[in-house]
Order: sequence, then structure tokens, then C-alpha cells
Amino acid sequence: MKFEFYNPTRVFFGAGMISRLGAEAKKIGNKAFLVIGKGSVKKNGTLDKAMKALKDAGLDVVLFEGIEPNPRLGTLLRAKEALIRAGADMVIALGGGSVMDASKVIATLPFYEGNPWDMMHVGSRLQRLPTKALPVITVPTLAATGSEMNEGAVITNEETCEKTYVGAECMFPKVAIVDPELTLTVPKDQTAYGLADIITHVTESYFNSKVNTPLQDMMAEGVVRVVIEYGRKVVMNLNDLEARAQVQWASVVALNDWVQCGTNAPFPVHQIEHVLSAHHDIAHGAGLAIVSPAWMKFAWRHNQRKFRQFAERVFGITGEGAEERGIEALENFFKEVGCPTRLSEVGIDKSRFERYAQDTVRIGGDGTKVHGIPPLEVSDIIEILKLAA
Ligand code: NZQ
Ligand code: ZN
Repeated sequence: MKFEFYNPTRVFFGAGMISRLGAEAKKIGNKAFLVIGKGSVKKNGTLDKAMKALKDAGLDVVLFEGIEPNPRLGTLLRAKEALIRAGADMVIALGGGSVMDASKVIATLPFYEGNPWDMMHVGSRLQRLPTKALPVITVPTLAATGSEMNEGAVITNEETCEKTYVGAECMFPKVAIVDPELTLTVPKDQTAYGLADIITHVTESYFNSKVNTPLQDMMAEGVVRVVIEYGRKVVMNLNDLEARAQVQWASVVALNDWVQCGTNAPFPVHQIEHVLSAHHDIAHGAGLAIVSPAWMKFAWRHNQRKFRQFAERVFGITGEGAEERGIEALENFFKEVGCPTRLSEVGIDKSRFERYAQDTVRIGGDGTKVHGIPPLEVSDIIEILKLAA
């Protein structure tokens, strides 16, 4: 096992922590470009809280609103113009993964020459990564992606119908203010999609690692167990702050790269889902709740020991057929909390499976296959989509 680990994001975690926003922003600069989504933070009062914290600390604020779920390149280009006009010295992301991802890319754009799509990962083409960005503060309002404490961003090119990621050192947020109170207003469906996202972040590395990583395994299992236990409580009572907090901390830990150390694992389920949400604009976590169990039903025979271990340690399932019963238990959990588990539930039919599979190997793979255990060719991805139909 050989790896390098780096994560410079300073995290403030806890209910009411948004009150720290002003003081932390003031340490960075004087004028904030505050990015929000389609309006949830206006309705639920979170924007007012953020504005107050920033104004009380003496900051000027320029608001940019309208980042859509599955954020689009065109929106980012509009934000770039507004950011340059504003002359801000930092970017603050107040929203879910879409707002945070968009903000992390927007912060690089004043320094990035040429077409920003060149920074995105598309198959094996050479990426022109950003090297400089304005400092970013993330304030997540939804527990799911882990974007608040990682260097990644996922963007959709609405013209080419491609959705893919970029990760660069300059994109690590300086500060993440993780306040579970801000997630109390997330509706049940989006809450459930978040649970599927958190779980899939750790199962991807768990099931696709070729090396022996006993500690990472237990950390991943721990994340899944916490999300199942407290996720159930949250969907039963959306106002359960303690449960919201446990889930949100799991979301941070699941994808700040700590659980993935040494696994060097690809994320095949994510590659397939990103293609589906590029074509159909579905919520990322909903897509994962559908694709993840289908991928597992396809993949378990190639990694039986791990699937047995997962079934036993997460669900207490042992004996004959434990691998498949473990997958079923996970799928049942997704259903129980209110996620779709079939493509038909989100209006995706079989007619374009071949196209989705080709896009997946072209964008998320090396042109002929997507890495993972097992490596997936176009025909394998079509099989997985059939299992998810
Ligand atoms: O746009 P607004 O009005 O704010 O509403 C949002 C949106 O409709 C709403 N919402 C967020 N916080 C809320 C709330 N509604 C009520 N109360 C609140 N407190 O929820 C909806 C979904 O928001 P979105 O940001 O799209 O969700 P999520 O956090 O799941 O982010 C998904 C995006 O992140 C990418 C996904 O591909 C997708 O584009 N990912 C980013 C990753 C990363 N940077 O590391 C990794 C992930 O695997 C993922 O790919
Ligand atoms: Zn994800």
C-alpha cells in the first residue's frame, strides 16, 4: 500500500456554526462572492443568517444566484463574468453539492485562460487543470457529496450532454462551515438521495480496491452503518438534529479521501450515474440508489470475499448466499428511506442503454472499458443497466 494524503480544508462542525462564517471570511478578505442555488436558502432563512454573519464582520457581499442541480457550464461562465465585475477576493458556496462544486470551479475561472471544459476529465484526453483559484469557503446545506472538504467538482456540459469531474489542488476549500441545523429543511426525497450518495462513496472504494486495506474497510463499514442507523431516524423525523448531525459528519468523512487512502480505487458506479444524470437530469443520489445495487449484482462474483465481509459486518448476514442477501439488504434500505431503485421509476427506458454504456467508457473510462473489479466493457454496462431497468 503506497499513497500520498493531503487535505488542507479547515472544518468547523456543529449546530449553530454558521455564526463563525463572518469571522472566518474576514480572515481571508473583504469582499465575498456568495453563490447560491435556485432559492431554497432564501425561503428557509439560511441566506439571511449568512448575510448577517458576513455583514456583522464588515464584509461586502455580492450575491450570485441560480446554480441548478447538476450545475451547467453555461451558468458557470455567467458567474465568471459576475465575479470579475464584482472584484471579490473570495467565493462562498452556500448550498448543496451543486452549489459547492460550481463555486469551486468559478473560483478558478478568473485565472483560467480558454475554455473551462478543458479542465474536465473526459476519458484519457489530456486535462488542462487549473492551478490558481480565489479562496473558497463552503457552507453545505445538504448532507451528501462531501464536496465541502474535497478538491473535486462535477459539472455538466449541456451542449455535449456530458457530465464529469475535475479535481485540482487549488480547488480545496480553505474553510468548511458544516452546520447540521442548515440541513433540517432538506425534504425527505433529497435527504434519502444524500444517504445513497454517502454510502456509495465508501462502497466504491471498498469493492474496487485491489490491495488489502483492513483499516479502510472498517472505516467504510462504519460510515455505512452510521448512515443506515441515523439515516432511518432522519427520514422518520426530518427535524431530528442529532441524527442529521451524525449523517452529515458521515458525509464529510465519506469523501474527504480519508476512507479511500491506499485503495487507489476507481468509481465505476459514479461513472455510470454521471452519464444518466447528464442525459436525464436526475438527482445524483437517486441515480446511485438505482445503479449501485445493480452494479453489485453484476460484480459480486468477482470479489466474493469482500461481498461476504460487507454482508456480515454491515447487516449481520452470514452463510449460504450471504453476498447476494447483503446486496438485497442494502437495496431494501434504499427503498425503505424513499429512494428509487429502478430506472423505470425515474422515467429511463431501455431504448438508449447502448448510448449510455458507450458514453460511460468514453468519458469515465479509457475508451474501451471503465476500471474497477471487474473492469466494465460496453456490454457489461448494458447488463448492469438491464439489472437496474
Ligand atoms: O437549488 P436550491 O434551491 O438550493 O435547492 C436544492 C436542490 O433543489 C435543494 N436543497 C439544498 N439544500 C437544501 C435544499 N432544500 C431545502 N433545504 C436545504 N437545506 O436540494 C436540491 C439538490 O441540491 P444539490 O446541490 O444538487 O444536491 P447534492 O448535494 O446531492 O449535490 C449533487 C451534485 O454534486 C455532484 C453530483 O454529481 C451533483 O451534480 N457530486 C459532487 C461530488 C464532489 N464534489 O465530490 C461527488 C459526488 O459523487 C457527486 O458527483
Ligand atoms: Zn456521489
